[in-house]
Amino acid sequence: MQPLNLSATLILFLFCLFQLASAWPVNNFLMAGPKAYLTYANSVQVGAQNGIQECKRQFALEKWNCPENTLPLSPHNSLRSATRETSFVHAISAAGVMHTLTKNCTAGDFDNCGCDDSRIGQPGGTGWIWGGCSDNVAFGEEISKQFVDALEDGHDSRAAVNLHNNEAGRLAIKVTMRKACKCHGVSGSCTIQTCWMQMADFREVGNYLKMKYKHAKKLEMDKKAVRAGNSADNRGAVTHTVLSIAGTELIYLESSPNYCVKNQSLGLHGTEGRECFKEDKNMSQWERNSCRRLCNECGLRVVKKLTEVFTSCNCKFHWCCTVKCEKCKRVVAKYYCAQKSRRKKNKGAKRRNKADQQ
Ligand SMILES: *[C@@H]1O[C@H](CO)[C@@H](O)[C@H](O)[C@H]1NC(C)=O
Ligand SMILES: *[C@@H]1O[C@H](CO)[C@@H](O)[C@H](O)[C@H]1NC(C)=O
Ligand SMILES: *[C@@H]1O[C@H](CO)[C@@H](O)[C@H](O)[C@H]1NC(C)=O
Repeated sequence: MQPLNLSATLILFLFCLFQLASAWPVNNFLMAGPKAYLTYANSVQVGAQNGIQECKRQFALEKWNCPENTLPLSPHNSLRSATRETSFVHAISAAGVMHTLTKNCTAGDFDNCGCDDSRIGQPGGTGWIWGGCSDNVAFGEEISKQFVDALEDGHDSRAAVNLHNNEAGRLAIKVTMRKACKCHGVSGSCTIQTCWMQMADFREVGNYLKMKYKHAKKLEMDKKAVRAGNSADNRGAVTHTVLSIAGTELIYLESSPNYCVKNQSLGLHGTEGRECFKEDKNMSQWERNSCRRLCNECGLRVVKKLTEVFTSCNCKFHWCCTVKCEKCKRVVAKYYCAQKSRRKKNKGAKRRNKADQQ
C-alpha cells in the first residue's frame, strides 16, 4: 500500500465524518444539523491531527511509531485491529479532539460555548474561591464523543473495545486537569485567591496515556469468537468484560504483530530504513539504545551515512547593529537500520560485474 499523502488522507477522514453527519444524535447542548458539522469539523480535524502528532512523539524511537494519519480509526479500514497500539491511537485521538475543542471554547472561537462558570464565586477551600475561566471540558468531551465515537458504527467486540479506549482518552484529559490560582489582596499579600481548573498541556496528556499504554490490559476472549467478530453472544460477553474494567485503563483484544517486519496487508512498514542514534554526549538512555532496539533486535544491522549539514558559524557583531555569520559545512554521521543480507548480495553482484567486465 502506498502511503497516502496527508491532504488526501484528511479528505478521506472528513468524508468519513461527513457521511456520519446526518446520523448524529445531536442534543440541546450543541447546535443541530449540518451547520454544527461545519462549525466543528475543522477543529475536530486539527484535534485528531494533534493526537497523531503526539503519538508520533511518544513513540518516536520505538519499533511501532504510529500511523501516518487518522485513517486507522475508520471503521471501514481493513487494517482495523484491536491491539495494544491501536488502543493508544484511539485514546490519543479522542483526547486530541477533546483538548483542541475545549481550547477553542476557552479562546472564544465558538459563539455557543464559553468558560465553565458554574462554580464562580463559590468557596473552593481555605483561602480561595472559584473564579477565572475554567476550561469547559464538558463541551470538548461532547464534541469528541459525537465525532470520534460515531466512527464506531459496528456492533462487534472491537467496537466495544475501541469505544472504551476513546473514553479512556477523554478521561485522561479530566484526570490531568489542575487548579490554577491567582493571588489577590493588598500588594499581592495573597489573602484570598481565585482559582480555576485548566487542562494540562497536551504533551502531559500524552505522557499519561503512554503510561496507560504500558499497563494496557488484554481481554482474554474466546479466540474463535473474537475472529468471528460480531456474534451477538460474543458482544454480550465483551461488553460485560469491558464494563468491569476501570474507565481510565486501556484495553485490547489481540497480540501485537511483529513490528520489525514490513507487512503490507497489515499496513506495517517495518524498521528497515529507520534512523537511530548512536552514543552522543547528551543522550538519554532511551536514545542511546535506539539502534539496538530498532535495528539489532529486529535482525537488522546499523549503517552509518555521512551527511553534510550547513550551520551558522564565526558570527561577528558589526557596528551597529547586525550580526554576520558564515556558513560552515559540517559532516555529521547518521545511522539507519538496513538488511544484513542485502549488502553481501550487492557486493557479490558488484564483484561478479567486475569479473564480467574484465
Ligand atoms: C481551534 O483551534 C485550532 C488549534 O488552535 C485552530 O487551528 C482552529 O482554527 C480553531 N477553530 C476555530 C473554529 O477557531
Ligand atoms: C502479515 O500478517 C498476517 C496477519 O498476521 C500474516 O498472516 C502474514 O503471514 C504476514 N505476512 C508477512 C510477510 O509477514
Ligand atoms: C545536556 O543534558 C543536560 C541534562 O539533561 C542539560 O542540562 C544540558 O543543557 C544538555 N547540554 C546540551 C549541550 O544539550
